[in-house]
Amino acid sequence: MKPLIVANWKMNPETLKEAKKLFDSVKRGIKNIKKAEVVICPPYVQFSIFNFQFSNNIKLGAQDVFWKKEGAYTGEISPLMLRDAGCQYVIIGHSERRTYFKETDEQVNKKLKAVIEAKMTPILCIGETKEERGLGKTKEILEREIKLGLNKISASKIIVAYEPIWAIGTGNPCEIEEAQKMRLLIRKIIARDVPMLYGGSVNSRNAEGYIKEAGFQGLLVGGASLKAEEFVDLIKNVC
Ligand code: PGA
Repeated sequence: MKPLIVANWKMNPETLKEAKKLFDSVKRGIKNIKKAEVVICPPYVQFSIFNFQFSNNIKLGAQDVFWKKEGAYTGEISPLMLRDAGCQYVIIGHSERRTYFKETDEQVNKKLKAVIEAKMTPILCIGETKEERGLGKTKEILEREIKLGLNKISASKIIVAYEPIWAIGTGNPCEIEEAQKMRLLIRKIIARDVPMLYGGSVNSRNAEGYIKEAGFQGLLVGGASLKAEEFVDLIKNVC
């Protein structure tokens, strides 16, 4: 499998103009790169950058979804709407959704099922907080997130992103050696060889280690995906 590099733009950038500019620069920068699969997950209202500038070697992803097909759910977006818009991947259960929007493992499970049913690939985010890590609860947290998140779901249909919460947006990434241990632990819990991404303060300098040394199949990138040059360098460095 080619390294899968997923850009999570979160609630950025502020304008469609900036989003187009960022997308265009990344597209230009990786024009000749065939050895990586790149997915960009912009805010929903900026999906149109893909219609304007469709690019074969960049796929569209979403940062979240609701599990219902349609109906009176003010403010929500359904899996079929995402697929219709050209999405192929959907991030589910990101720690920011679990923390700020109180998303539960049961809701994560419903979202995973709905995304699979709509024939897209869900990226299930799991990871422990600094406090949980300090208390030695990492394994317990990951087991819970995997067991409840994947309840009645075939792991063959998903991608897992290990994102230690203490490493997200902090500039304090997980050490490569520890990340490798975590990858093996998650592999054991799932009891199946699913593609696994690492996320948490990934940049162009540390990206390669997670793939070539720690054995991850790809990366989930936040902050560094908002700077075109940095993101292009990151992609080049893992190829
Ligand atoms: P970061 O975010 O790269 O800015 O740490 C990663 C994520 O939240 O997916």
